[in-house]
Parts: sequence; C-alpha cells; structure tokens
Amino acid sequence: MRMIAPSILSADFSRLGEEIRALDKAGADLIHIDVMDGHFVPNLTIGPGVVKALRPHSKLLFDVHLMISEPERYIDAFAEAGADIITVHQESGAHLHRLIQMIKAHDIKAGVSLNPATPAVMIEDIISQVDLVLVMTVNPGFGGQAMIPEALKKIARIKEFAGDREQPLLIEVDGGIKNETIALAEAAGVDIFVAGSAVFKSSDYEGNIQALKKAGV
Ligand code: DX5
Ligand code: ZN
Repeated sequence: MRMIAPSILSADFSRLGEEIRALDKAGADLIHIDVMDGHFVPNLTIGPGVVKALRPHSKLLFDVHLMISEPERYIDAFAEAGADIITVHQESGAHLHRLIQMIKAHDIKAGVSLNPATPAVMIEDIISQVDLVLVMTVNPGFGGQAMIPEALKKIARIKEFAGDREQPLLIEVDGGIKNETIALAEAAGVDIFVAGSAVFKSSDYEGNIQALKKAGV
C-alpha cells in the first residue's frame, strides 16, 4: 500500500493547525514538513517553534525534511519539537555520519536526502546507518514543480547498497508526485510519496489522497 505524506508547504499557512487536523482525518500516512533556510535552498519556511506548535494537532508521524545549511545547529531543536523522522541532505555538509548519529541519539528515525544531480554512490558508506532515503525528484525549494523522472533511476542502486537488513530501508520520493506520475515512482521502488500540490489542489484532501493511492493501479 502506498504511503502518502502530504507536504504542508502547500497548505494554508494562516491556519496550519486546522490543515494538519484535516490531513489526519483525510487519511494521510505521515505529515511532511519542509524546512528551508534561504541559503541551502532559495526559500524560507518553518522553524522548530512551528513544529512544536503543530505537534498537538496530530498523532501522525512528523516527517521533517531539513533543506538547510549546517543542519547540526538545529537537529536537537526539531527533535525536541516533536519530529519523528529527521532527514538531512547529503549535500548539506561534510559530516553526514555525525548528523545521522545526532538524529539517532533522540531515538527517532534518521533519513538522508539526495538532490536530483547527486548519485546514489554518495551514500553507499552510510546506508547501513539510515532508516530512510529521500530521493528528490525536483530541485528542492518550491512546491508545484514538474518531476524529474531520471532521478528515480538511482533507487535501484540505493537498494543494492542497502542489501538485506532486519529493518528494511524506506525509500521516500519528493517532488512532482501527482496522479499522473505516482505509478512511475512506485515502479522504481518507492514506499513513501510526498505530495504537496496534488493533495492541496482542492479542499477534498481525502479524495485527493485516495486518488494518489489508486492512480495507475
Ligand atoms: C520541495 C519540497 C517538497 C514540495 C513538494 O523542495 O521538499 O516537499 O513541497 O511539492 P509538490 O508535491 O507540489 O512537488
Ligand atoms: Zn520535502
């Protein structure tokens, strides 16, 4: 079964608590929270204070995607604010292993993300330490962009590097996921599908999530 993680980047920021409660009711599997710093990516969004304020509004897992430089400065704050998964970008710093350890010290899931141009081999030596790989199928920074399907090709290599493990590695995809593209991503081996504009395109979040779950099946 496809897991859908609506990205609140496309939600109405003037009433985020309400939006998250609506996603919960609409059958979302996780809540994807896009954190941007105006430096690693050309956009600014959400800080740990907002995550903390949202935490009481849903029991769903908070999937926090850090698109920030020097993520080591904020990992503890996001974990304390209530993140269940923290994903850092491979491209965000020199000490990925240390970042993963920092996340795991909070007893939460650790993810690593790859931009479209970053090859799978960049995470070969860290893969045994991570719970999740987030494959970007757009250049991070904005919702509503078209999928870059070539980026899906690296998933096969990532799975090869992961090999057989007790806790299977989760593969998440982010960017341009909609009814027309989700089956392609699924065929590449994705477990969790982030969707911003496809979930928030109309007020029928439940219908939009169901459509994503069923599209092309
Ligand atoms: C892009 C973000 C995504 C974005 C996805 O930088 O990481 O999570 O919100 O939006 P859509 O689904 O509209 O491509
Ligand atoms: Zn994201």
